[in-house]
Amino acid sequence: MTDILSKKLESKIDKKLISKSKRRELDDGFKKGKVINEVLDKPTVMTLYKMITDHVIAYVNGSVSAGKESVVFWGVAEDDSNVALKIYLVSTSNFKKREPYLTDDPRFRHVKKGTKNLVYLWAKKEYRNLSQCYDAGIPVPRPLYITKNVLTMDFVGVNGSPSKSLLTSEIEQNDYTQAISILKDLYHKAKLVHGDFSEYNIFKTDSGLVVFDLGSAVDLRHPNSKEFLKRDINNITRFFKKRGMIVKNSDDVFMEIVNEL
Ligand SMILES: Nc1ncnc2c1ncn2[C@@H]1O[C@H](COP(=O)(O)OP(=O)(O)O)[C@@H](O)[C@H]1O
Ligand SMILES: [Mg+2]
Repeated sequence: MTDILSKKLESKIDKKLISKSKRRELDDGFKKGKVINEVLDKPTVMTLYKMITDHVIAYVNGSVSAGKESVVFWGVAEDDSNVALKIYLVSTSNFKKREPYLTDDPRFRHVKKGTKNLVYLWAKKEYRNLSQCYDAGIPVPRPLYITKNVLTMDFVGVNGSPSKSLLTSEIEQNDYTQAISILKDLYHKAKLVHGDFSEYNIFKTDSGLVVFDLGSAVDLRHPNSKEFLKRDINNITRFFKKRGMIVKNSDDVFMEIVNEL
């Protein structure tokens, strides 16, 4: 990028940020098409602009979801395909409590305890987890790109509306079977435990379940991986039971997964 261009960009962003700070609180900041809003800090906006000038995406089309620690935007690539941009919020100090998920994972052994930029590492971790799953043939959104705190992946859904999660879908017995089989494949093929496996983090699409939100997933060698797996099984079993499905005993499922060769 030339200097002049980047200056222009800076001042453009500045203006947006100034006008933004004069606006009311968050509530009207999430209208479709309104990209630069209260949740994104300046470095993140710069990252998005850079992704546009680097042709990773063509533009950002609107917001999909706003959480405390991350927001998800709908972006469009130059070939018109829809992508999801999961942006981890840098200012969220809550990442501290996630440190053990990172530093106790052998893949991130080199990370020093007390590292400041945990948020970038967390984004990278989710990207790596997605890649490991995708390569192992597990149904996840295809990871496309990672830079700083912005993770780009295939958009699961239509026209900027994400597919329904299990929570808001009609449930059939086969969904339970699929969910357990995903847990198994995560363990044996991707060598991961999800860590936050629930009705909130699984899409039900026309072509089956798709699991996402893999930031918490850990390597099997993580000292707490078995405990996390137990929790994942308990959570999903509870959900399906509540929805009237026939479920296996959680402990039996655990033994089945862990002992299967
Ligand atoms: N790849 C995707 N395609 C479409 N929508 C997505 C995608 N990833 C996330 N979303 C939407 O954003 C929401 C939050 O994403 P998630 O990864 O679960 O973040 P959080 O950590 O905030 O729970 C999801 O419930 C879903 O509606
Ligand atoms: Mg989630």
